[in-house]
Order: sequence, then C-alpha cells, then structure tokens
Amino acid sequence: MQHFDSVLKENRIFKPSDDFRQAANIGQLEDYQNLWEFADKDYLQYWADLARDLISWKKPFMTIFDDSNAPFYKWFPDGKLNVSYNCLDRHLPDKGNKTALIFESDFGQVSSFSYAQLHNRVCRFGNALRELGIGKGDRVVIYMPMLVEAVIAMQACARIGAVHSVVFGGFSAGALRDRIEDAGAKLVITANGGLRGGKIIPLKETVDEALDMGCPTVENVVVYYRLNIDTAWRNGRDLWWHELSKHQPEFCEPEWMNSEDPLFILYTSGSTGKPKGIVHSSAGYLLGAINTFRNVFDNKPNDVYWCTADVGWITGHSYVCYGPLANGATQVIYEGVPSYPDPGRIWRIIQRHKINVFYTSPTLIRSLTRVGDWIPNKYDLSSLRLLGSVGEPINPSAWMWLYEVIGKERCPIVDTWWQTETGSIMLSPLPGINSMKPGSCALPLPGIMADVVDETGQRISGQSGGLLVIKRPFPSMLRTIWNDDKRYQATYFPAELGGKYYVAGDSAHRDEDGYFWILGRTDDVLNVSGHRLGTMEIESALVANPQVAEAAVVGRPDEIKGEAVVAFVVLNTALPEGQEARDLAEQLKQWVSKEIGKIARPEDIRFAENLPKTRSGKIMRRLLRSIAKNEVITQDVSTLENPQIIGQLQRQVL
Ligand code: WT7
Repeated sequence: MQHFDSVLKENRIFKPSDDFRQAANIGQLEDYQNLWEFADKDYLQYWADLARDLISWKKPFMTIFDDSNAPFYKWFPDGKLNVSYNCLDRHLPDKGNKTALIFESDFGQVSSFSYAQLHNRVCRFGNALRELGIGKGDRVVIYMPMLVEAVIAMQACARIGAVHSVVFGGFSAGALRDRIEDAGAKLVITANGGLRGGKIIPLKETVDEALDMGCPTVENVVVYYRLNIDTAWRNGRDLWWHELSKHQPEFCEPEWMNSEDPLFILYTSGSTGKPKGIVHSSAGYLLGAINTFRNVFDNKPNDVYWCTADVGWITGHSYVCYGPLANGATQVIYEGVPSYPDPGRIWRIIQRHKINVFYTSPTLIRSLTRVGDWIPNKYDLSSLRLLGSVGEPINPSAWMWLYEVIGKERCPIVDTWWQTETGSIMLSPLPGINSMKPGSCALPLPGIMADVVDETGQRISGQSGGLLVIKRPFPSMLRTIWNDDKRYQATYFPAELGGKYYVAGDSAHRDEDGYFWILGRTDDVLNVSGHRLGTMEIESALVANPQVAEAAVVGRPDEIKGEAVVAFVVLNTALPEGQEARDLAEQLKQWVSKEIGKIARPEDIRFAENLPKTRSGKIMRRLLRSIAKNEVITQDVSTLENPQIIGQLQRQVL
C-alpha cells in the first residue's frame, strides 16, 4: 500500500501549543488522564454521566446499558428524548438570536439563519410532513443538494420521529431506487435542481426516474424550489415544499422518542454487492455527536465552524446536521464545488466568514496542494485555529502542507478516524492534549476501547499490522443493518474473534506510543476521494450490461483520489481492438456512472478473454492489483489456470 510505506518512515512529532492547551474544552492533561482512567474502570458510569450532562431528556433513563441480546446492545433504553429538541429548542432561551447556519451558494450569495429562525423552519416543515401522514417510524428518503433545506428536512424528520435516509445527490436513479426500496420509504424529499460549479443537477428528474423503476411504497414527493427551471410534475404525487409549509403553525410538538428508536438509516458499501443500511439510534448517536464535536473540535461559543462534507455522508450527519447544532454552534454550509470558479474558493470562504475550525478530507487537501501555495497565501487565513481531516489516511506530506501553509504551524490538526457505523469520531488527537504525528490518527478518545488484534483476537503490538477492533460497545455505534440482523452480526462481530469485538474492517498498527496508523481496508472496499465503494457493487453494475460476461474491480493508488477504480472486463463478444476498444471502454464507464453514480466511474477499463483464476476458480485479486499499477509481475502465477491472459490484462486501452 502506498500509505503504508510512507507512514512507516514518519517520525515527526508536533506538540500542542500552550495557548491551545490552556483553553482546551477537555481540560488539562491530568483531567484527560483521569477521564481515561474513569472510563476504563467505571465504563458504564462514564457514559451515563456524559449522557446526563450533554443531553436534555424528556424522561431521564434509569438503565444505562442492556447487553442481554448482544451484540444488539441498548444504551439508556428507558429514557425519552427528541434529537431535534436537543439541537434547537434548548438553545432558544439564551441563543435564539445566535447564528446557527451561514449559507453560501454556488454563485456566492450568502444568507444566514439564527437558532430561532431555524427552529421556525424546522417546525413548519415538521408540521407539513405530519399533514402528509408521516409519523413515528416512517422512513423518508432525502435526496437533496447541499442546502440549508437538507438540514431542515433531516431535523424535521427527527422532530416528528420519522427515520430519514439521506441519499447523496451524486447517486444515480438506480442506486436511489435500491435505497428507497430497501428502506421502504413513504416519502421522498428533493429539490427541483441543484447547482454545482455553475451546472444544474436535475435531482427531481432522477427521482422521477427512480420511482418509475419501482418504489411502490412511496406516496408523495416533496420538492424544494431551488431553481427557476421547468420541472416535470406528477399531480397527486408531487408537492411543493413552500406550498406545504406556508400555512403551518410555528411550533411543532416534538415526538418523544425512546433512546433506542432509530434516528436514521444511512447506506454504505460493504463487501457484497448490496449496500448496507446502517441504523443509528436516537440517544446514543446524539451523545457521540455532541461529545466529540465539543472535545475534538474544541467548540467555543464564538467559533465559526465549517465542515466541507455533504449531508449525504455520515460526516455531514454528525458534523453538519447534529453535532454542531446540538452544541449551539455557528457553522457555514457551502452549496458548491470547492474549486469553483477557481482554486481559491475554499480560502475565500474561510477569509469571508472568518472560519475558526475547518474540517475537510485528504483528497481535497491533495487537490489544493497541487495548484501552488501562492493561491492560499493570497488570503487572510488568520482566523483559523484548528484543522481537521477525515475519510482516509492523510499522507504525511499533505498533513505538513496543511499544517505549515494553511495553519501557519499555529493550528493543531485533528486526523479523525471513524466510520458510518461508529456514528462519531473514535480515534483522534485531542487538540491541546495529544501530540500529533503526521499520518497517524493518534489515540482512541476516552471511553473508546480500540485496539489492534490478529485473526484470533490476540493483541498485536509493534510494526506489524492487524485488525482494528473496538473491544467494548459504545453509545454511538450502529444498532443493526436495516432488515438484516444476521449480516450485522456476521460483519461486525465475527465469531472467529469471539463475537464480542466490533471489527471495523480496517487494518492498522500501533506504534510504541500506542498511536494508531491506519493501513487500509481488509475487505473489498475501495476508498475513492474519501468515499466508500464496494468492488462487488461496481462488478455487479458492469455485469448487468448485456455486453459484459464477467468483471473484476480493484483499486489503484491515486495521488489525488487516494484510490482509483480499475475494472477488468470479459466481454460476451471477441476481444475488441483499437477504436472499438476505446468506444466500449467509454460506454462501460458511462454505464457505471449511470448505474451507481459518477463517483464509481472506472478510471481504467481493460479487456481480456478471461480473468486470472486459480484452479479452484478464484479470481486472483492480488495479481490484478499489481497489473492495475502496471507493475512488473514478480509473484508466483503457477497456480493460475490461464497464465497467457496476463498479457491481455496488462494492455491499457489508450
Ligand atoms: C472508512 C469509513 C467517517 C467519515 C468518513 C468516511 C476510512 C476514515 C479515516 C482516517 C484513515 C480513515 C477507513 C474507514 N477512514 N477516516 N482519519 N484515517 N482512514 O466514512 O464512508 O463509513 O468510511 O474510511 O477505512 O473504515 P465511511
């Protein structure tokens, strides 16, 4: 692995500055150490104290934890609360006029919403949803651009107890249909279009297409009017957001939920072709989001915070929609593309809104380092005080660039490791407390019992890598896979490791200071620009094309995206050559974009008469990964049934 080599050589250490240390939310070093010890010794009490401090309960819980049906754990099961109440209502007495959201549109228009205004919008929209007959437990799919309304829709669902499932606006009609059907959604919320980089994204059209392919459970589509464009309409099914909300009362009584009632489902890729609907709870999830936002991002009352993630991903759930609002923070939401209309856009946004805390992804950082330091250097970035990274390992060189050029060696960087499944940050340096090593996501947060073990569950230390596990359940963890309890148990609590450890699906190693270095996935999941893509998902999409007989997909290290998709394809017809091969490769790339979404589009497609298989019929993926990198093949191919096809697989379509 590309990152593996680079991190093993890394030995720089950066200490937190005194200023930061003195004011850190988590407290001083002793407080942190005490917290760690407390969490270790009195694990349940540690979480119970936090849950009582950080959440406003309608009915306090008496039971902290229930593991009688492990690994289907329950946290604070007899408590009642409402997540939207915790994000909005409780701030109204003293922070009603504080800015909650600052929205900057694709073309640079800015609007802002106070907590009171946001509350008003969420209440009215919540009432509108209730009028449509949506209530507790109903599933609502949200397919929206990055707008304030996406957050309002999520909050409104949370308010009335509906389970939202946000589908990233870049997914195709087919992928959207699969998710709507799996969730059994009654309602879809969308916009008549989105704007990205000056281009119109026809989201409503994609919804129409998805619903034409199936989705019998969907009764209505609510459409936010974003753009002055013609919008195809189905009378009786489609409803305008503004018309529904106009006459709604300004207060919407929250639905008081049990701690364990699901808050949302979010689909993510796994090692089979079918995406997993990750189910998160109300109380445990909220606790994770509040606690980590407060401590990892060290949120201060006057901070302006900006996370570049889309609400279609878990980062946008925990660190745009829920964590910042539950903490009463001020944040920026940006509609568009980071490099539009020029590569200075990101830095202009930071300068314009005087951003203090900036949370982004390695892929974005890598794309920005390319264009040269003179671009960020043109802008006043002195408001920044903390930087964060998430989604994939950050290469030490990108880390150093962020630290020196953007943070001017003043701002700590929190390299946060977590997953859709964990709901909130698990590993990260705590700013002001832990020293930072470029490329390492440092240490588990207090209360997170992470470790690295071998295939039998034995602890591994030193240079060798192993499986990243979390040894005790924690409140913000997923509760199950929607409609698939068996897959939940088999994937995350495999029997080989005793069935008790949460297995993340990543490999990692810990250094002599106990710092974690993430090496990559252990399953067939790729990380393209910080987005998880199952190789099987892409393979099934390819094989669904009538011209394709067989396909194998692997990742290839990519300087900007982290990994790029390479597909090896066997056709139903003769091996194509020249122009024919080029046309077919292009057709298949478009096919995958259409089947799944642009993010899954293969960068390289190679044709062969067969795939490299062992005598038992297993595809040799390791060999394909070498071929994809254009490496000289040194590995043993004697078990290969058909060694002559290597030459074909090596041939790129140029
Ligand atoms: C996978 C989870 C959690 C939000 C974004 C992605 C990789 C995530 C890091 C990091 C190294 C990381 C892991 C993980 N990953 N953060 N700081 N360092 N790797 O969420 O789509 O559920 O993907 O992203 O491989 O398993 P996700």
